[in-house]
Amino acid sequence: MTTTSDFEGMGALVTGGASGIGAAVATMLLARGARVAVLDRETAGAPAGALAVKADVTDDEAVREAVDRAAAELGALHTVVSNAGIGSIGTVEDNADDEWTRVLDINVLGMVRTARHALPHLRRAAADRPGAVSITQTCSIAATAGLPQRALYSASKGAVLSLTLAMAADHVREGIRVNCVNPGTADTPWIGRLLGQADDPDAERAALNARQPLGRLVSADEVAAAIVYLASPAAASVTGTALAVDGGMQGLRLRPAES
Ligand SMILES: NC(=O)c1ccc[n+]([C@@H]2O[C@H](COP(=O)([O-])OP(=O)(O)OC[C@H]3O[C@@H](n4cnc5c(N)ncnc54)[C@H](O)[C@@H]3O)[C@@H](O)[C@H]2O)c1
Repeated sequence: MTTTSDFEGMGALVTGGASGIGAAVATMLLARGARVAVLDRETAGAPAGALAVKADVTDDEAVREAVDRAAAELGALHTVVSNAGIGSIGTVEDNADDEWTRVLDINVLGMVRTARHALPHLRRAAADRPGAVSITQTCSIAATAGLPQRALYSASKGAVLSLTLAMAADHVREGIRVNCVNPGTADTPWIGRLLGQADDPDAERAALNARQPLGRLVSADEVAAAIVYLASPAAASVTGTALAVDGGMQGLRLRPAES
């Protein structure tokens, strides 16, 4: 049975943990007994009680140092939540090569670097806590549905989905589970910034609400709860899975609402 202290004795690292979904995950892991480190390029918003480690996921050496420091200070690393990411707007015609390189470097290679440096620590932890060692990556509905004006962002999250499956296969026999969550539009500072750029922010928010069959945005806590489940000992048989937390956006086809 899942208890509120099911992460007791476990060390967890959350990238992008100083804002939005990542901060909600770090807060939830702390509440459930984990020792938590937050890796972020801006650590001011890291939750109290977490070890804040400033690093940019585009810098391989900085990621290595941050992961090693987190493992040393937490005592061990059982859980990695690879969540740092950025958005990008436009069709395939709208972004130059250097913007493609920048976004893929953060959203895809950032997860590669994090996993690469975390795996030696996770292997040690797997020997100690079978079933409880995992990597969970924040993917997106953009990996599984065609959304307008999101060519580059969708390509990056499609890569995260495939990477999740490949990593799950590579590491299953080492006792390391790898999964991802696919949020719909989640109410985080990111979406606040996006709405701030819209000509009519209220109309844009209403359109985003209406796009999800539940009729509202997903909350950061709802996405965090799914991530924490996938990372928890209760999910010991779950690997190579993409868990949608999208208000029904991927799976449902509704008739228009009757007025
Ligand atoms: N908000 C949504 O609607 C939504 C939907 C689907 C998926 N996601 C994904 O969820 C994840 C978190 O998004 P959020 O909405 O919480 O955004 P957010 O902007 O609130 O938080 C993202 C965090 O990542 C950090 N970060 C960004 N680039 C970094 C880098 N190069 N190195 C280190 N840290 C970096 C930021 O400083 C920030 O703290 C992202 O991977 C995003 O693609 C978000």
